Amino acid sequence: MEVRLDNLSKHFPGVKGAPTVKAVDQMNFTIPDGKLVGLLGPSGCGKSTTLYMIAGLHKPTAGKIWFGDRDVTEVPPENRGIGLVFQNYALYPHFTVRQNITFPLENVRPKLEKTEMEQIAQEVANLVDIGNLLDRLPKQLSGGQQQRVAIARALSKRPQVLLLDEPLSNLDARLRLQTREEIRRIQRDTKVTTIFVTHDQEEAMSISDFIVVMRRGVVHQIDAPQTVYEEPVNLFVAKFLGSPAINIFDGELKNGKVLLHGNVYHEGLKSKGKFDYFDERIYDVAVEGGYNGTKADYFASLGVDYVEEEPEVKEEPEKKTFKEKVSDLFGKINPKKKQKFVPRIIEGEVNLESIYEAVVGGGYRYTYADFEEEVGKFIVEAGVNRDVKIGVRPEAFTLDKNDNPAIDVEVLYIEHIGRDITIVANVVGQKHRIRVIIPAEERHKVKGKVIKVYPKRFYLFDIDGSRIL
Ligand SMILES: Nc1ncnc2c1ncn2[C@@H]1O[C@H](COP(=O)(O)OP(=O)(O)OP(=O)(O)O)[C@@H](O)[C@H]1O
Ligand SMILES: [Mg+2]
Repeated sequence: MEVRLDNLSKHFPGVKGAPTVKAVDQMNFTIPDGKLVGLLGPSGCGKSTTLYMIAGLHKPTAGKIWFGDRDVTEVPPENRGIGLVFQNYALYPHFTVRQNITFPLENVRPKLEKTEMEQIAQEVANLVDIGNLLDRLPKQLSGGQQQRVAIARALSKRPQVLLLDEPLSNLDARLRLQTREEIRRIQRDTKVTTIFVTHDQEEAMSISDFIVVMRRGVVHQIDAPQTVYEEPVNLFVAKFLGSPAINIFDGELKNGKVLLHGNVYHEGLKSKGKFDYFDERIYDVAVEGGYNGTKADYFASLGVDYVEEEPEVKEEPEKKTFKEKVSDLFGKINPKKKQKFVPRIIEGEVNLESIYEAVVGGGYRYTYADFEEEVGKFIVEAGVNRDVKIGVRPEAFTLDKNDNPAIDVEVLYIEHIGRDITIVANVVGQKHRIRVIIPAEERHKVKGKVIKVYPKRFYLFDIDGSRIL
């Protein structure tokens, strides 16, 4: 069953005059049928709230939830065809495993025979590998087994959507690993669309087809695990994924060059700068290329609603020149009065491609490359000379010289993790601590206290966290 969240929001009113909590804010995403999606983000980012809205336990403040073609926003939880598993199992302690699993089947209509229910219990118990434990009480089971009972119970009504809220967080490290593999296997076997909430990035990475990264009620990125790791859309996502975390350096973007400690890391940054797509000079470029609309037409075609600013009313000067007196006499308009377009509502997304399409529609005759080059001049202008953050993942360093300038670091200590080693070091001349992961075989290259490390690949972020490169 495909699950689609359409502009879904949940706002909780603030208690005692506190501001409204936007637990989930305008969330949009589609979970394809049969996939396992990991909902990932720090504590309080709105994961459980999202899950409970999908389950029907929370009523959304706005937006809709679709299961396939069916709008389930107003459908009560018991009629949604979902199975829900919580962190704390929530088993009935005085019921046997069998009774716990058959419990949700009691109110199925038309009523099921006892033998039918028991047959289902045996099937789902076999599926989660507890088929031989049906007569036990929950307290006679390990944590991992109890959690599997909870999963079996959630599966007993053959749900179309399985919702799991941090199902592994009460398990010890070994059981966590084992149970997450188990969940993955069960999901593959049953092909039930599954949403798995976790704040553990490794868990999300290992289990999910797609990861939805959330922060403060807002979705930041939706992608396959590897893509989220390798191509984070912003600094938050880059920092949230990866252990040890990505190293961040304070750099500078100056005249198209990326500088770190005065060394050049990248040159010719042109079209990636921060840019105001509502810069009126783009209109001028369009007109030079044959665009024949007015400025108001131009902005309207970008889907932007523009209003004209009230013309500035200048105080009448005490002493008027002869020219002004004549002008007053004949009722002419002061030619100095300016009119300005001020953006009011921005609808949809405006980018260079959409602007190009709009101007071509109005008669612009050059290619996109030409347009980009012309407009790119403003982008460079807008994009240079500002502070930036350079991100290098620990494993993206090498001790072998490459084209990127070296960073001198003072080695503090070395950790061994399996076949790799982690060098924990301070950047020379700074308090800044970094971690560098290299294969254990290269241990001999770490000579002396101060060594040179070379980034193999790096990311570039603006101060506001948006990704530049
Ligand atoms: N019933 C409620 N009333 C008011 N605020 C709430 C309520 N439930 C949740 N919140 C707030 O909404 C935000 C999101 O909460 P939510 O439980 O969805 O976070 P979460 O991502 O599941 O966090 P965790 O990883 O800690 O479980 C938090 O700021 C939380 O305090
Ligand atoms: Mg939660």
